[in-house]
Amino acid sequence: MNRLQGRTAVVTAAAQGIGRGVVERFVAEGAQVWAVDLNADALSELDGVEGVTTAACDVTDAEALAELARRTGPIDALFNGVGFVHVGALLETTAAELDASFRLNVGTAFAATAAFLPGMLEAGSGSIITMSSVQSSIRGFPNRLAYATSKAAIIGFTKSVAADYAARGIRCNAIAPSAVDTPSMRARIDAMPDPERAAADFASRQPVGRMGTPEDIAALAAYLASDESSFTTGSVVVIDGGASS
Ligand SMILES: NC(=O)c1ccc[n+]([C@@H]2O[C@H](COP(=O)([O-])OP(=O)(O)OC[C@H]3O[C@@H](n4cnc5c(N)ncnc54)[C@H](O)[C@@H]3O)[C@@H](O)[C@H]2O)c1
Repeated sequence: MNRLQGRTAVVTAAAQGIGRGVVERFVAEGAQVWAVDLNADALSELDGVEGVTTAACDVTDAEALAELARRTGPIDALFNGVGFVHVGALLETTAAELDASFRLNVGTAFAATAAFLPGMLEAGSGSIITMSSVQSSIRGFPNRLAYATSKAAIIGFTKSVAADYAARGIRCNAIAPSAVDTPSMRARIDAMPDPERAAADFASRQPVGRMGTPEDIAALAAYLASDESSFTTGSVVVIDGGASS
């Protein structure tokens, strides 16, 4: 605990699920956190939490992010959490849907990193964390063509940022989970014909016998944001209960 004392972090997709878990863990580690999400209603649950400033913002909007970066000033850590799961194999995916997945899953990491990286470079340090997935260049799963393709691109993005800015004190690492029990995961499960069976199937994908939790992912994010990981950059950290082993 207190590994992020005196640090400022921006967390996108902060209103629920993994991002919410990251906000809570970063605050517990002593950080001042800007919690950013499109969903102002859900985000308002974090209003008044000590150490948290909420900012309703569409992370595809570069101008809104530039304004936010002016408000935050230089930050120490950026958690790029925004992502969306498109369901479908290639023949159920349109070119427009593929574009939309790239815009949301890759474009938001690009836009937020572009907004906050200059301040980090000025300060000579910073940790950028991206959300990939084991559904990427790591493993193929059925019906995730657009999602996995965009999450593979996030790995390329992460490694490129790491390579370009390592010598100037910036680290960039990707987190690649398997199934994590979040509101959007629950919605996908509830949309299936037999949700109870689907939940059991998702749990059994992991040899440990359960889905991950936002807290599991947040613990790794805190490590990657902290100086404990100062020799780690350009890495893709798989956290999947053994699913891809
Ligand atoms: N849940 C999983 O099983 C899992 C597994 C691997 C990777 N991931 C990745 O982790 C990340 C978080 O997943 P989750 O399941 O917690 O997500 P979630 O869908 O439960 O929450 C996503 C949040 O992002 C916000 N958001 C969406 N578009 C936005 C935008 N344009 N600007 C700002 N905020 C926006 C939503 O309002 C929501 O609060 C995603 O990138 C996802 O792809 C999730």
